[in-house]
Amino acid sequence: MAPVRDPNTLSNYGEWQTKHTTANLTLNFADKCLHGSVLLELESLTDKASTEIILDSSYLAVSSVKLNAAPLPWEIKPRTKYLGSPVHIALADGAAKGAVVKLEIDVATTGDCTALQWLTPAQTSNKKAPFMFSQCQAIHARSLFPCQDTPGVKSTYDFNITSPYVVVASGVPVSDAPQETDGGKLYKFQQKVPIPSYLFALASGDIATAPIGKRSSVATGPNELQASQWELEHDMDKFMDAAEKLVFPYKWGEYNVLVLPPSFPYGGMENPIFTFATPTIISGDRQNVDVIAHELAHSWSGNLVTSCSWEHFWLNEGWTMYLERRIQAVVHNDDAHFDFSAIRGWTALEEAIGEFGKDHEFTKLCINHKDIDPDDAFSTVPYEKGFHFVWYLDRLVGRENFDKFIPHYFGKWATKSLDSFEFKDTFLDFFGAPEYKSLEDKIAWIDWEGRFFSTGLPPKPKFNTSLVDVCFELAEKWKQKDFSPSTSDISSWTGNQVLVFLNSVQEFEEPLAVEKSQLLGKVYGLSDSKNVELKSQYYQIAMRAKDSSSYQGVADLLGEVGRMKFVRTLFRSLNEVDRELALKTFEKNRDFYHPICRQMVEKDLGLAESK
Ligand code: BES
Ligand code: ZN
Repeated sequence: MAPVRDPNTLSNYGEWQTKHTTANLTLNFADKCLHGSVLLELESLTDKASTEIILDSSYLAVSSVKLNAAPLPWEIKPRTKYLGSPVHIALADGAAKGAVVKLEIDVATTGDCTALQWLTPAQTSNKKAPFMFSQCQAIHARSLFPCQDTPGVKSTYDFNITSPYVVVASGVPVSDAPQETDGGKLYKFQQKVPIPSYLFALASGDIATAPIGKRSSVATGPNELQASQWELEHDMDKFMDAAEKLVFPYKWGEYNVLVLPPSFPYGGMENPIFTFATPTIISGDRQNVDVIAHELAHSWSGNLVTSCSWEHFWLNEGWTMYLERRIQAVVHNDDAHFDFSAIRGWTALEEAIGEFGKDHEFTKLCINHKDIDPDDAFSTVPYEKGFHFVWYLDRLVGRENFDKFIPHYFGKWATKSLDSFEFKDTFLDFFGAPEYKSLEDKIAWIDWEGRFFSTGLPPKPKFNTSLVDVCFELAEKWKQKDFSPSTSDISSWTGNQVLVFLNSVQEFEEPLAVEKSQLLGKVYGLSDSKNVELKSQYYQIAMRAKDSSSYQGVADLLGEVGRMKFVRTLFRSLNEVDRELALKTFEKNRDFYHPICRQMVEKDLGLAESK
């Protein structure tokens, strides 16, 4: 048996392990249903000791389970909240250790599916076709088909997907054109690098593509194509070149970006072959492309080397923040950008820890997930506390040495999943080599237990503040009574510098007076900015100032974007200043939001308990 380390799966993955998955699925837009058969090839890890296979499922309609074409006894057990309803499949004789059994499961999604959003043509920008997309991280793959839904198991995939509209998936297309079939067009993809279930991804709709780099295209609605291409083509290959130099060559073939409709609930999702991205990064100023550097970095940290459960999620996100910031420093040819982004991260970490309370379990680097829905534990903490741990190790051993460790670590664990202790062992092994003898004492001092399991903030490093100082200086001026602002205060700044400034205004002990808050919005063009990052941060200031003339603008924005980072924070603040408008706005946009976002906002507004 293999060790079972993931409390967020009900599958018995210590006894059986999925090696290959074939998904033969058809999209039915009329019924908003994905249906077909899934073939799971599972290796037995015991010698006939295990006589049942338990798979995760959530709100699925399973109609048959077969082994080599023969029906098998199976049963769906009652639901355990967010963990779903496990499918128990009986295999009377078990299987010899190392033998592979092939299960064929007929399945359809239901209206309660949490992984898919189906948009009507009216909900799309050109209104010509419906649209569907998936979002499986963290534990929503189980609402697409029965599987071992844990990042501790990796499988290769064949996708055979039938749809009347263009399909993209987290696999490489097998041929240039789809095959015509009775039910629509059949799109085939393969993923030959083993991936965890949370990276299974599909989208379908009226999708057009344009090149943005040597190995990269952007895909999106025809009306959005040109703007999306402009936004990304300038940096795509620079990011790729920097990342490949930092770690090692990209292993996945193509790297493409799908820009989704506005209800996409995240900034980006690192689905292999096709990163899924929010349309809010297409802001017309190339100011939000760091999201792409981040998702690209996941091609190494997360997709190739994966945390074995959501308790070690920092191995995915903390490492990715570190690589993202290293990429930014190379692209800008300036280390100050690394620190600039790190300082923003530190502020976000302080805020997150302040909100949870400094002793909260969710402020640990390694978070206990027993009885915890990963969507509830999700926060900045694994990103920024994780980043600070990696950066601390980098400074401890020195950049030159750490740069040798990076490819070693990603090479050693490529295509595998690991926990924090295995990371520790890998680090200690590497720097235990004779050539690093001079580092011995420093390394012996690393407080691994404390770093992994202490709550609250980690030690604060010394930052290079050259890029933030101007932002803080301007914020100080806004504290003065007689300050008269002008557009030129910020005209040479990057969008992120304006964000740092706004954030520090938001942190003033006293809220701004209403007139000052309105002046801020007007002079710097924030109230009608196309950049949602800026606009929503400004609205936070306006709501704190109790500027009731801004509330309708907040409500309108909540009908235009579905990215949870904005939606949840805007709803929380609107709820405090005008609960009635918050509730009305939520009801109005309920169908616009992705199911995961809808669920989270329901919880945030005190409308629902977790299911
Ligand atoms: N993998 C995450 C998104 C995610 C995390 C989805 C957990 C579901 C559960 C992705 O890589 C991410 O971190 N996105 C950020 C982008 C940012 C840090 C640049 C986001 O969505 O804001
Ligand atoms: Zn990420």
